[in-house]
Amino acid sequence: MSDKRQHFWLILIGILVVVISALHYLTPTMKWQYHLIYMQGYFIPILIGAFQFGIRGGLGTALAVSFIYFPHVMLQWGGLIETNMMRFLQIFLFNLIGYVTGVISQQRMQENERYQHAVGDLEKSLKKLKTQSKHLAEVEDRLRHADRLSVVGELTASLAHEIRNPLGAIRGATEILRDELPEEARRSEFFKILINETMRLSAVLENYLSFARNRKHYVEKSDLAAVINSVTQLLTHSAQKSGVRFKYRFPNYPISILIDPNQLRQVLINLLLNAVQAMSWGGEITISAEKTVPVNREEFGSVIAKAIPYLRLSIRDQGPGIPEAQKQKIFQPFYTTKPNGTGLGLAIVRRLVDQNHWQIEIHSETGKGTEVILIIPFRP
Ligand SMILES: Nc1ncnc2c1ncn2[C@@H]1O[C@H](COP(=O)(O)OP(=O)(O)OP(=O)(O)O)[C@@H](O)[C@H]1O
Ligand SMILES: [Mg+2]
Repeated sequence: MSDKRQHFWLILIGILVVVISALHYLTPTMKWQYHLIYMQGYFIPILIGAFQFGIRGGLGTALAVSFIYFPHVMLQWGGLIETNMMRFLQIFLFNLIGYVTGVISQQRMQENERYQHAVGDLEKSLKKLKTQSKHLAEVEDRLRHADRLSVVGELTASLAHEIRNPLGAIRGATEILRDELPEEARRSEFFKILINETMRLSAVLENYLSFARNRKHYVEKSDLAAVINSVTQLLTHSAQKSGVRFKYRFPNYPISILIDPNQLRQVLINLLLNAVQAMSWGGEITISAEKTVPVNREEFGSVIAKAIPYLRLSIRDQGPGIPEAQKQKIFQPFYTTKPNGTGLGLAIVRRLVDQNHWQIEIHSETGKGTEVILIIPFRP
């Protein structure tokens, strides 16, 4: 009950008790019929007290009434037990009824409160249910979408497969043609473009295909610099076109690591391609590698836990960076912000990284650039 309502009832009870008591005290005892009515009148504030405030209100008002009424009986009615039996009985009744009605109404109030609680809980559950069903609808929607995409994916994969073989043949034929031509014609830009572009197309197709099916894992001791070089060579053409330079920061000793070199190549192609594409106005991409023994760094938890030395490969670009809101989406298949992107690049990277138990971290600051760190444990 609100404070205002409580005050209202308290004041009403007070006024009634005072008025009825005043009538008792001011009406001569000769007019006993009036007194009979006034006596019953006391039940009104007692019942109001009981209904509004439970036991406290019922019994409290009854006690107050008894306290005020008792002197009236003693003084104005002479106070003799024999002649005032009914009035003493009435005082006892005030208290009994005040208490009993108080108990009953308090039980009602508590029950009411419980109902209110239950209603509140029910409303909360209903709200939760509504958000859950909304969430479910969203998930279902996404699932249906993914279903459609997987069909598209399958089609693309078979298409890529069909294109790959003739593409290989074109490249082979071009190389044969080039070898048969005189030296001057051989150096012509035309052949370079033809070979580079077919190579690029092959790489793109390989990417698609590896996304569609899991390629056989083939682990061997590989020279890191050679793997990185083979990738940057592939990208030289598109890097040069947008005025992007590669800068290398490697230790002065060779790093040899047990990995599937093709899979690392694939990861690097996608990461470097993203970096090049992010820098359409040119700049520098720094590729650095270092062999590190575990230090107390939480982000590479599993490597640290096993205390295995790891290779830390970093690709840092000077592009526009990735806005915070996009960071969670970039690994999702088909998420792209590029007009001609497929959104598969980082999805492939994630899949390969997970398959090989590597780790990847992306640090990006809008306006400054992006750094992708690849952690590859040195397996014995
Ligand atoms: N180095 C980067 N700098 C800025 N944004 C990046 C970078 N790398 C990735 N992104 C963002 O992440 C998105 C997803 O990248 P992802 O490689 O998966 O697909 P894509 O590059 O758009 O298309 P695809 O690689 O298939 O040609 C990109 O569209 C881009 O918005
Ligand atoms: Mg990409």
